[in-house]
Amino acid sequence: MLRTDIGEMETVQPAAHVAGTVHLPGDKSIAHRALMLAVLAQGESWIDGLPESEDVRATIACLRALGGSLQRSGRGMRIHGAGLESFATPHGGLDCANSGTTMRLLAGVLAGSRVSATLDGDASLRRRPMARVIEPLRNMGARIESDDGHPPLLLTGSALQGRRHVLPLPSAQVKSALLLAGLAARGPTTVVEPVPTRDHTERLLAVMGADLQVAAGTVELRPSHRPLGPIELAVPGDFSSASFWMAAAALRPGWSITIEGVGLNPTRTAFLRILEAMGAGVEVELTASEMEPVGTVRVTGRPLFAVTLGAEEVVAAIDEIPALLAIATQAEGRTTIAGAAELRVKESDRIASMAEGLRRMGASVDERPDGISVEGRRALHGATVDSNGDHRIAMALAVAGLAATGPTRIEDADCVAVSYPEFFATLSEVTHAG
Ligand code: S3P
Repeated sequence: MLRTDIGEMETVQPAAHVAGTVHLPGDKSIAHRALMLAVLAQGESWIDGLPESEDVRATIACLRALGGSLQRSGRGMRIHGAGLESFATPHGGLDCANSGTTMRLLAGVLAGSRVSATLDGDASLRRRPMARVIEPLRNMGARIESDDGHPPLLLTGSALQGRRHVLPLPSAQVKSALLLAGLAARGPTTVVEPVPTRDHTERLLAVMGADLQVAAGTVELRPSHRPLGPIELAVPGDFSSASFWMAAAALRPGWSITIEGVGLNPTRTAFLRILEAMGAGVEVELTASEMEPVGTVRVTGRPLFAVTLGAEEVVAAIDEIPALLAIATQAEGRTTIAGAAELRVKESDRIASMAEGLRRMGASVDERPDGISVEGRRALHGATVDSNGDHRIAMALAVAGLAATGPTRIEDADCVAVSYPEFFATLSEVTHAG
């Protein structure tokens, strides 16, 4: 279904104090992968702590439309996996809604299946580049038609041949799509990454018994006659959702937020090091370390200083850059982000969306094709700003609004439900605590 409506406005009041302990929705990246792999496995999987977010709902709906058996039970889901052979051609298209991960990973899953499917999404997803998955999948023998590399994707499952892919740009979604396709391919599938990206797919595949070799910058998957085994998984809290609370706490000396049960996979946590480099107080306690490390993070506000980030740091904190830009307005000096052209092809053009929103609030921002600079410390004033339908922009501008002198009105703010439906309720708790 295309999302053409403009959502609700939210007003964020300046905060006198920010404090509290927050619990997070489950990690979206892990949830998408665990659901798909559980359907591809043989046997009954149990996944606890799935987020109620629209993106993950889209994945669940697509897997059900393909014949997958997924039953909700409390906060968890029981999945009767019966392998790729059990997939059926869906009636109608597969609606990936706003979720790039759903579309790109499902393209990989379905490439080697026996089904035909049309993968489509909302207006934002239709603008996003898909050639990055279509081309390497075609190279393995996939049959995928598209409108000049954009959704909808018309996919007809076919026999695949494993290949060695050297990715021209770092993308965990592309890496994962190719590994998922590799499960059904003849011969090994190898993915070489220019820069390391999140490795949730590799961790899940290893736990489920896939024949996987991981060495510096290279993942190799060998086809196995043994089916993937089912999993029991508690999805950790989403680090990227947590980043908005970390940023909120860092805004002013003396503000502080504790985040419990947050996923601490080292491929995701670069933002903690960036916050420390900016001067914020960061304490981390590891509480569990099974398939994915999990722990408690406490961020305390202290005087902030600007940072300069290059391409490698940007990749490691790609979804946290909007939150970082919000606090850069309160950091002494010029924060400069380079090598970040990918931000322009996310749910919105995140460089333009943040530049526009922060400028309306009185910030001094410079945009470049592949980067952005923010001058601090600037007094922000309340303004009407636009999320551009992008959940992370809505949340980052809400964080900036905590440090403004008047109310900040965020247009189309209910898009936070894409990853974090409870965001504004939790925001109200941490700004009214103690
Ligand atoms: C994701 C990978 C990243 C990230 C996105 C989720 C994933 O995208 O920005 O929010 O779950 O693999 P890219 O693969 O396009 O870098």
